[in-house]
Amino acid sequence: MGFEVALLKAEREEVLGLEDVVALLQARGEEEAELFRVADGYRRRYVGDEVHLRGLVEFSNWCARRCRYCGLRAPNRRLVRYRMSVEETVLAARRAAELGIRTVVLQSGEDPYFTVRRLAELVSAIKEYADVAITLSVGERSREEYRILRDAGADRYLLKYETADPGLYAGLHPDMRYERRLECLRDLREVGFQVGSGCMVGLPGQTVEMLARDILLLRDLDVDMVGIGPFLPHPDTPLGSYPAGSAEMTLRMVALARIVTRQAHIPATTALATADPLGREKAFAAGANVVMPNLTPLRYRKHYSIYPDKRCLSEEVERWLPALRSYLEASGRRVAMGYGHSLKRRNGTVEEST
Ligand code: 5AD
Repeated sequence: MGFEVALLKAEREEVLGLEDVVALLQARGEEEAELFRVADGYRRRYVGDEVHLRGLVEFSNWCARRCRYCGLRAPNRRLVRYRMSVEETVLAARRAAELGIRTVVLQSGEDPYFTVRRLAELVSAIKEYADVAITLSVGERSREEYRILRDAGADRYLLKYETADPGLYAGLHPDMRYERRLECLRDLREVGFQVGSGCMVGLPGQTVEMLARDILLLRDLDVDMVGIGPFLPHPDTPLGSYPAGSAEMTLRMVALARIVTRQAHIPATTALATADPLGREKAFAAGANVVMPNLTPLRYRKHYSIYPDKRCLSEEVERWLPALRSYLEASGRRVAMGYGHSLKRRNGTVEEST
């Protein structure tokens, strides 16, 4: 009953409430297939058939934080730490551009070596030598620092809220505050970034109602980009013996994220592809329109161990990209050629879609 009413609302593009989202997240079997069909319709209408590539460069795995789920956490002594040089990072960005990947995502732990000055220099160097849009994913900083990074030429910023439940958030992040996280997201928007956020699915103690609130927060934040992946236990963390989040629930979250955000760019995440070998393809059919090939040099990649057995640990993108292109074309989609900026209206102007 709840499911049918909620699905009808979604089909009619009516605003979903908390109970609607809870009902849709619990869909199984035939109902789940209907949810994915509706989400795929939103995807086609609001973002079209193009799939955007974002080349991920994990340039440092040093981290000052102690997030209880993450393998990069500061107390993890078993991790071999690395930092890529500016030259190595610029080379990775140039390789992206040569492959037709027009966005580079620079991700690291919260590494104090990378002061805002060093980061700004890195951004300018990449912009000088490679024709790519830049997305930063380097954690919490002050508004002034965000402004400097924006002025240096960075286009977008990813900062997940991880969970919209303040109690769960507090338990997972011994040195961080939920309110501060949201403040950072507002600051990022104010200094002019296209902003991405999102959460993990299946965290210990997380309920369906909490997941529904994660979805509603995406709508409230009016994000340009959404990242949703399953929690995957890392053995060298305090949460190492908890069960992994379900790939099925993650796919339903992706579908709901598409329905409530409409135009946001949503990747088929590596975490999902890790939890389910067909996760990427399933996500493309349930609302996703982005994929993030890993461009971190192989000798570093195995050390960027946020969770274990990450997909593509040894895959080189040169092999993988042609296969992706044929898969997408066979399913009526195609790889985008443009930068893939936000499709949302900002300050009275529409950002280019190509
Ligand atoms: N399982 C799944 N995702 C994780 N992340 C960090 N640790 C894990 C884990 N154990 C995700 C977080 C973070 C992103 C960089 O990686 O969502 O924002």
